[in-house]
Amino acid sequence: MNLQLSKSPIGLDGIAAAETVLSHVDGERGELIIAGERVADLVRHTGFEGVTARLWSGGTARPVGEAEVRAALGAARERAFARLPDLLGATRGLSIVDGFRAAIAGLRAEPGLPHEATIVGAFPVIAGALVQRPKGGNPVAPDPTVSHAADTLSMLLDRKPGMREVAALDAYLVTASDHGMNASTFTTRVVASTQADLFAAVTAGYCALTGPLHGGAPEPVLEMLDTIGSRERIRPWIDGALARGERLMGFGHRIYRVRDPRADVLKGAIERLASGGVDLPFAGEVEAYVREALRREKPDRPIDTNVEFYTAILLDALSIPRQAFTPVFAVARAAGWTAHAREQQRSGRLIRPSSAYIGPMPGPVAS
Ligand code: ACO
Repeated sequence: MNLQLSKSPIGLDGIAAAETVLSHVDGERGELIIAGERVADLVRHTGFEGVTARLWSGGTARPVGEAEVRAALGAARERAFARLPDLLGATRGLSIVDGFRAAIAGLRAEPGLPHEATIVGAFPVIAGALVQRPKGGNPVAPDPTVSHAADTLSMLLDRKPGMREVAALDAYLVTASDHGMNASTFTTRVVASTQADLFAAVTAGYCALTGPLHGGAPEPVLEMLDTIGSRERIRPWIDGALARGERLMGFGHRIYRVRDPRADVLKGAIERLASGGVDLPFAGEVEAYVREALRREKPDRPIDTNVEFYTAILLDALSIPRQAFTPVFAVARAAGWTAHAREQQRSGRLIRPSSAYIGPMPGPVAS
């Protein structure tokens, strides 16, 4: 057999699949730049509407202002609420993560609203309704006059959130809004590259997000912290998990060779939230020992804390049920997905990689 194998690394490591002005991940220096600014700076001086305006403006001839985004998202949340009976129709019997997938697949163009606003506005409305359902509660109506973060929290928690809670969720939404060519953004761009619409592209992106190697990790992070339970169990539990060949959730990244910068930003947001229910020192001890153990066990592969470790602790401190963590991640990442889908469509280029065929070949052509 004489097969010409592709020289590309399997898994597309290090391959640039698109040019983008939206975000850049520097894995060696541990930097995330979104629309030209470092993530920590963005969190300090803008909220979700601000970062969404920057993302939607990226590479376009008509920049979108923050006030415009705020008004469009408020209107979109109300439209989605009016359509909830339809959207939830396909979700009966499904978990929150799977119900969210089925509901967003039912989104469609709304007159007078850009598709990106329809999508980003609908996400917290759907997540909130799915969270209320198992409690037997009615979906909480959105309030278009408040920020996206404040309204997301009130629809998830069925109460008016405090200012510190809103600030913490807003910091999370900014931090998780975009992150280079991650698996869900790549998926979104592949679908958009066929000139399918934004609804199709973003639904596909969400499906990619749900896996535990990507956006499905925070719930297992909390399960790990719960199972460890006490300080004396940290070392034996982690040593045991590594000896069994298990992956420790909230650690490791394809691009970062140092600590994920988003972990520090979120740790700061948790400290400012100062919620009585959070045992941050315990989480810090677990983190420190996991890093030490991974350095010992995988000396050739720098593996450090990723965003999901402190995401889990932050969302838990905000009393968001852990089954809703992945949809809440999608609430944030929808800003990036929609911007990437538009950028890909504008490029006009179909994404179509090749594969390395290692199967059998037919015999010589019969003459
Ligand atoms: N715990 C234990 N071992 C790990 C971990 C981890 N968290 N991460 C990587 N490793 C090990 C692998 O088992 C592998 O060991 P081996 O060579 O002996 O087989 C080695 O490190 C290299 O791993 P890769 O698979 O090459 O790393 P990759 O870049 O593909 O993985 C990933 C990145 C998927 C995030 C991985 O680190 C992982 O599974 N982490 C846990 C899940 C997680 O936290 N996911 C959220 C990621 S952040 C996000 O998507 C928002």
